[in-house]
Amino acid sequence: MQNIVIETQHLCKKFGQITALDDINIQIHQGEFVAIMGASGSGKTTLMNILTGLDTATAGNVILDGVDAAQLDEVGRQRFRAEKIGLVFQQFHLIPYLTALENVMLAQHYHSITDEQAAKAVLEQVGLAHRIHHRPNQLSGGEQQRVCIARALVNQPPVIFADEPTGNLDEKNEQLVLELLKDLNQQGRTIVMVTHNPELSQLTDRTIFLQHGKFLRETRNEI
Ligand SMILES: Nc1ncnc2c1ncn2[C@@H]1O[C@H](COP(=O)(O)OP(=O)(O)OP(=O)(O)O)[C@@H](O)[C@H]1O
Ligand SMILES: [Mg+2]
Repeated sequence: MQNIVIETQHLCKKFGQITALDDINIQIHQGEFVAIMGASGSGKTTLMNILTGLDTATAGNVILDGVDAAQLDEVGRQRFRAEKIGLVFQQFHLIPYLTALENVMLAQHYHSITDEQAAKAVLEQVGLAHRIHHRPNQLSGGEQQRVCIARALVNQPPVIFADEPTGNLDEKNEQLVLELLKDLNQQGRTIVMVTHNPELSQLTDRTIFLQHGKFLRETRNEI
């Protein structure tokens, strides 16, 4: 078995009286493509937010690439996130007045004179070499999501987290984005993706189901 890249230990999250996550213990291995499914409100986004350091747990630990980010100071945590994690969201969160290239460059952690080349290279990788000077409103939804994937890739993180990355896309673009994620996975990246679509989840290695904030079950997918 490959190394464990992400591990949660007795992870709990409460929002006041609401228990959003209840004793979640999962392990994700290097190079795995894992889908997270569950009904609305089952805790998927809360889990993603804690795994990626956007939010903190009420109890329990998250260990990502051997590091418990809760033990780092703010500067260390930011650096850790920039190096280790790429994020893709359902709502693309692109800056509207910046071009595709500028949006990607904004996410770069290490600034150097090679910035622009590196940003161009990831845009090329997602098939957008011909669109780098377009602003988000000049791009289709699928193209915007590919800019987001390029942005997530630009620091070459080992893990990519995607929360319903195809939730705002039509079927054709959904397929394109999924194929792109699969390519990235085949190149060795670990990917964790929340999805509502059972067909998409079946194209991953493993699906983890949450229910009312609890781990319900998991399935290994035949691919
Ligand atoms: N900031 C918050 N404050 C209070 N309650 C919250 C907050 N964020 C989430 N919750 C609650 O925690 C539970 C889990 O929410 P979460 O957003 O993780 O669900 P989800 O599985 O991502 O749902 P969806 O499929 O609709 O995106 C829900 O009951 C939600 O109302
Ligand atoms: Mg959600």
